[in-house]
Amino acid sequence: MHSSSDSRLVVTGAGGQLGRAVIARAPEALALGRGDLDITDPAAVRATLRPGDLVLNCAAYTAVDTAESNEAAAFAGNETGPAVLAAACAALGARLIHVSTDYVFDGHGTRPYEPDDPTGPTSVYGRSKLAGERAVRTLGEDGHIVRTAWVYTGDHGDFVATMRRLERERETVSVVNDQLGSPTYADDLAAGLLELAARVNSPGPQPLPAVLHATNAGQATWFELARAVFEEVGADPDRVRPCTSAEFPSPVRRPAYSVLSDRAWVAAGLTPLRDWRLALRDALRRVCG
Ligand SMILES: NC(=O)c1ccc[n+]([C@@H]2O[C@H](COP(=O)([O-])OP(=O)(O)OC[C@H]3O[C@@H](n4cnc5c(N)ncnc54)[C@H](OP(=O)(O)O)[C@@H]3O)[C@@H](O)[C@H]2O)c1
Repeated sequence: MHSSSDSRLVVTGAGGQLGRAVIARAPEALALGRGDLDITDPAAVRATLRPGDLVLNCAAYTAVDTAESNEAAAFAGNETGPAVLAAACAALGARLIHVSTDYVFDGHGTRPYEPDDPTGPTSVYGRSKLAGERAVRTLGEDGHIVRTAWVYTGDHGDFVATMRRLERERETVSVVNDQLGSPTYADDLAAGLLELAARVNSPGPQPLPAVLHATNAGQATWFELARAVFEEVGADPDRVRPCTSAEFPSPVRRPAYSVLSDRAWVAAGLTPLRDWRLALRDALRRVCG
């Protein structure tokens, strides 16, 4: 068991959506974008990490649709990368917090998924992320996996940002109403991951399970999330129309049910993430000014 409150926090994938949110909250961390460190490069990873480091891996191959036809790239980023990080951490005596996804489940659930529920990914992306989880679990108590879902900042490229743009460009927008999940503000998730990092450095009385779930609380369909975005920007939410996934052909079967239970997170003494609707309001206030 480590107790290294002065250890370095090293954030890999620091140029991505979540990585940027983490660094905004922890500017003292060592921020490594893809150009600084390719996590699939064992020599570079070994040369960068030091004993006692706490690595927060936000790097991943996240192009869910493209992964179906580019399995090698998906598994390189999502299995080889975490495996290289885990091996370097094991060799150096460093710790690893790794971010994973609701896509490791099959999406047929009817109540929020617990961390130890059976997995059953239905996409290349989901299988590659599950393989990455298995690699991190080889680290034993020095490896922690946090699954999250439906992450957004609202400012660039994500679903919330896309709805803001479409609200300006179109009179009506059709959005799928048959997938249920927990929209998660990247800044809230970053705060949760940093609370976990502090706990990994200074273990408390409650044990930290190997796998945890962290999303904003509550649930919504993409349609409901889109309506909420319209409401928050002062537009008529009835301009958002419900449709089914079948109307949006995709190479990937996305999980119909993606809600993740935070019971283990709370039982570990970590602060639950607030309701998704309150988080969305804050996110849009921040990006809309
Ligand atoms: N976004 C979501 O809705 C969501 C949902 C559930 C779970 N997650 C998980 O949350 C984590 C963060 O995702 P995100 O939304 O921040 O994704 P993102 O914006 O795509 O960020 C991922 C970052 O990782 C970088 N990267 C890819 N391969 C790398 C490599 N080999 N070495 C170093 N960096 C590499 C990417 O660089 P390039 O851009 O140059 O490729 C990108 O900057 C991931 O583990 C993801 O699976 C996300």
